[in-house]
Amino acid sequence: MSERRKLIVLTDPGQDQAAAILMMLGAPEAFEVLGLVATAGNIDLAHTTRNCLKLLELAGRSDIPVFAGCPRPIRRDLVMAEHVHGPTGLDGPDLPEPKISASERHGVDFIIETLRAAEPGEITICSLSPLTNLAMALVQAPDIAERIAAIFAMAGAYFEVGNITPTAEFNVYVDPEAADVVLRSGVPITLLPLDVTHRMRSTPARLAAMRALGNRCGIATAEMLEFSEAFDLRKYGWDGAPLHGPCVPAFMLRPELFHGRQVSVMVETSSPLTSGMTVADWWGITDRPKNVFYVRDGDDEAYYSLLLECLGRLP
Ligand code: RIB
Repeated sequence: MSERRKLIVLTDPGQDQAAAILMMLGAPEAFEVLGLVATAGNIDLAHTTRNCLKLLELAGRSDIPVFAGCPRPIRRDLVMAEHVHGPTGLDGPDLPEPKISASERHGVDFIIETLRAAEPGEITICSLSPLTNLAMALVQAPDIAERIAAIFAMAGAYFEVGNITPTAEFNVYVDPEAADVVLRSGVPITLLPLDVTHRMRSTPARLAAMRALGNRCGIATAEMLEFSEAFDLRKYGWDGAPLHGPCVPAFMLRPELFHGRQVSVMVETSSPLTSGMTVADWWGITDRPKNVFYVRDGDDEAYYSLLLECLGRLP
């Protein structure tokens, strides 16, 4: 059994990210979630912060703190994805308004202070969202880079091309400058891009299995994904919508289920046509530093079995 990871989770829930957070909470033997840092992304910061609180209450984990991060990307206006996630960002189940509140501390300060207070290599960053708050922390406090054990992020696309533009994946597109800061940070990074998340499709049978768990977290996850799938089913015409977020905890739990390669990944920040495009040097054509373990594929059956196992342990 590998050591339990202490996680700072960056998130803009978002139904798929809700599933990822619940998966982490359903694997307490592997993850200690130190806090959620809400990001502006899928929906505005007020909603993503509230959604974090709702999820923690749903899972019976109101002991975990939530910190609101920056209300917009580093340089650009905020682009959101209400067309996928609905006006609250977490449409689907009727989750009650949270009784708990977010911390007064800014999410960027939480990242910096928590890393400085911990031993080097003690804390892992798990990013499900645009990378704005991690990038701001790295710029404000460059010393934290060597203190981060690793970054695992759902971000980017190369072989699968983009989802918000023909060339860019949403999390990177929202804040490409932030992705650039993180990719150049020197911190060990594993990316779970669309190349692998598009293999993980929530078919009706898989959603039915979540609902059949019978617990409130399994039922709520099915209801969330049954809402957010509509856009992707129309767009892709597949037998299920891609389930992005849980690829991150799944990789941390069972890396042997996935396949990837250590390559150079850089991001376009200036071209209006390809802004946010992640360029993976898969064949080692350049001498650019191989800064990313880039995951290209994974075992979808095992992925969903693992997700169900974790969800099944929750209330
Ligand atoms: O591109 C997919 C990612 O963008 C997912 O995390 C989804 O929640 C959106 O944030």
